[in-house]
Amino acid sequence: MKLAVFVLALAVAPALAEDTASRTTGDGVYTAEQAERGKESYKEACAGCHALDWYRGGTMKAWDGAPLFNLYDVIATTMPQNNPGSLKQREYRDLLAYILSLNDMPAGGEELPAAAEALQKIVIKWRKKP
Ligand code: HEC
Repeated sequence: MKLAVFVLALAVAPALAEDTASRTTGDGVYTAEQAERGKESYKEACAGCHALDWYRGGTMKAWDGAPLFNLYDVIATTMPQNNPGSLKQREYRDLLAYILSLNDMPAGGEELPAAAEALQKIVIKWRKKP
């Protein structure tokens, strides 16, 4: 019995390790094209209330260490404030990519993942520059 448990633990451990491995917003988690699209959505849906500078600095610094999904969720369910949830999910992801780009977080080869679980695993890492 003991042996069986041991063998099971060996089989499960590597899978778990892979599962909990997370990326941060410093690892290039969106593409430049995605951020470009986000810029267009921003002009249409967000610029009326939020100046660009508002997305840099304090507002985003407060999110340091949080899963990217949390920020996505706030934007996708409460913004634009005068018509929450009115954009497509893809547009919300594009906006998220644009916001990351505004905060000097690097673009990479893959777009932000659509799956909530995948977004949960990306940690917001505040840029080092002030
Ligand atoms: C009608 C005005 C209005 C529009 C349009 C609007 N917002 Fe907001 N937004 C607000 C207000 C008001 C707050 C709360 C301000 C605060 O917390 O200081 C807010 C807060 C936020 C926050 C802060 C969340 C937090 O807790 O840190 C984010 C991110 C955000 N908006 C993104 C967006 C995006 C992206 C769009 C475009 C899809 C958008 N907003 C459009 C009014 C608006």
